[in-house]
Amino acid sequence: MCGIVGYTGVQGASPILLEGLKKLEYRGYDSAGIAVINDGVINIAKVTGRIANLCEKTNDGADYPGVTGIGHTRWATHGAPTDTNAHPHLSNDGRFAIVHNGIIENYLSLHDELTSKGYHFESETDTEVIVHLLEMYYKGDIKKAIIKTIARLQGSYALGVLCVDEPGKLYVAREASPLILGVGVGENFFASDVTALVSYTRNAIYLDDGEIAEITPDAINVFDCAMQTISKKITRIVWDIQSAEKGGYDHFMLKEIMEQPRAFKATIAPRIKDNEIVLDETDLSERYLKSINKIVITACGSAYYAGCAAKYTIEKLCRVPVICELASELRYSDPLIDNHTLLIVLSQSGETADTIAAMKECKSRGAKTIAIVNVVGSTIAKLADHALYTWAGPEIAVATTKGYTTQLAVLYLFALYMSKKLGRIEEERYLQLLSSLKSLPKKIQDTIDTNSKIHKIAIKYYDNRSMFFIGRNSDYAVALEGALKMKEISYIHAESYAAGELKHGTIALIEEHRPVVALCYNESVMEKTLSNIVEVKARGAEVLALTYKGNSQIVSQANDVIFVPKSETLFSAVLEIVPLQLLAYYVAKLNGCDIDKPKNLAKSVTVE
Ligand code: M6R
Repeated sequence: MCGIVGYTGVQGASPILLEGLKKLEYRGYDSAGIAVINDGVINIAKVTGRIANLCEKTNDGADYPGVTGIGHTRWATHGAPTDTNAHPHLSNDGRFAIVHNGIIENYLSLHDELTSKGYHFESETDTEVIVHLLEMYYKGDIKKAIIKTIARLQGSYALGVLCVDEPGKLYVAREASPLILGVGVGENFFASDVTALVSYTRNAIYLDDGEIAEITPDAINVFDCAMQTISKKITRIVWDIQSAEKGGYDHFMLKEIMEQPRAFKATIAPRIKDNEIVLDETDLSERYLKSINKIVITACGSAYYAGCAAKYTIEKLCRVPVICELASELRYSDPLIDNHTLLIVLSQSGETADTIAAMKECKSRGAKTIAIVNVVGSTIAKLADHALYTWAGPEIAVATTKGYTTQLAVLYLFALYMSKKLGRIEEERYLQLLSSLKSLPKKIQDTIDTNSKIHKIAIKYYDNRSMFFIGRNSDYAVALEGALKMKEISYIHAESYAAGELKHGTIALIEEHRPVVALCYNESVMEKTLSNIVEVKARGAEVLALTYKGNSQIVSQANDVIFVPKSETLFSAVLEIVPLQLLAYYVAKLNGCDIDKPKNLAKSVTVE
């Protein structure tokens, strides 16, 4: 999705903007641009394609001098990815340049109004209406022009504004799109994502919806639409530069897979004290937990699949119904939610537009909301009644790995915590499960250590255009995420299916040498899954089975077997998914795919 950066200080702005944009590349984009003020003129460079093209065009920024500027990576929504549609956009009089993340929903009517008043549009974007509104409302006071402009906008925006009349200043405004100000010494910054800031400063101000900021090299003044000054807290960014870099790995995805033992441990360890689970960030009293009659989990993509996997654990331990709903569906479903519903929202980025909308919908119906989020200070974290952070560190690869496993970590903690509060677990079993939970980082590491075997298996399977992932019960939930990993980075059609459903249709697609990845961890359905393996093998499938160490009955049935450590089935999803992440990674690599930035995808999906 789009990314924005801004700089004002004493150094050349262009190289800093280009560096910032490189840090945002992981979010996914198709064109980019910068605008810098120099000698009373705004100079703009825009390109289609990679930031490398922009560096070439600007001579690494040297051909665009000036100490104040803005930059943008665009992920096309309105209008094709072209140089003209790329941001920044310039007003007809050349006075203003802007960059924008988000979507202006009423842009068509604004476009018609502005055209009838004589404003000329260069691009097909929704964004361009903003810069013409600024020109229209500007009567010598930029703040007033910005306030009047944003009052006309419906939708979402993180907006960066340059004006030739105030050459050392940046203005920004935020509504439903992330915007962070970086506080430096004699220089200040803004960005849509802290990763673009950490090389320059660790001091950040998180803007809230409805806030506007005036930024000079020495001061940041935040105010609202009534021009009332707002006092903001400076927050220390704890993510370091190294964690936002590849650290010797070929891809961020591989690095992030390898980080999972540490990330899982960092997420659970501070919340287990003297064999008690402490969820200080929430106020989930026994009384409240007894008052709820269902839990609704909502999210998108992998985060939704993490919810699907945790449903089995929560229901088994707590005996409370858990309904998993895709956020993009839930929000339009007139959901049956009230103040007896606990809503759990999962999101790595904390900025996914559909998840935010579903959350708002459920909140308005009275649900208490807990957000399990990785990005501190993100919109979802702020909107929730309580945020439980996954301490995974920055996740850069578009395909989530440690984001998914750390979401499961928090959900497992939550399930155990709630079952104890509800009195639905014996102390002995509770301690047994807690100990099993604590042993998972080591077991994830043992699974990662089978890396070279998975690479060999990938060599056998990578040259296929279609694959199936099957499993039952909790194994099925993992199959969903395993197939998503495969398709999003390798572009191989990968279909996940509940193994028992195969014979109701999908088995028609099984043919000679069709790879079927069969998840066989859950003993309660083992025999049934084995029968399904036999069925697909009888139709010529090549079966790659995944099971726990010591389960030898699979060996005679499958063509290949991946063994992962034995653990409680309630927690097995985090072990089962790791080899599937690695399999997808190696298959994509062997197919020469752009692993960290798969085509058409973005890291943070801030459009609905
Ligand atoms: O940031 P979020 O967790 O809210 O993102 C949700 C999905 O967009 C995300 O999980 C997506 O499916 C990933 N590409 C999966 O790897």
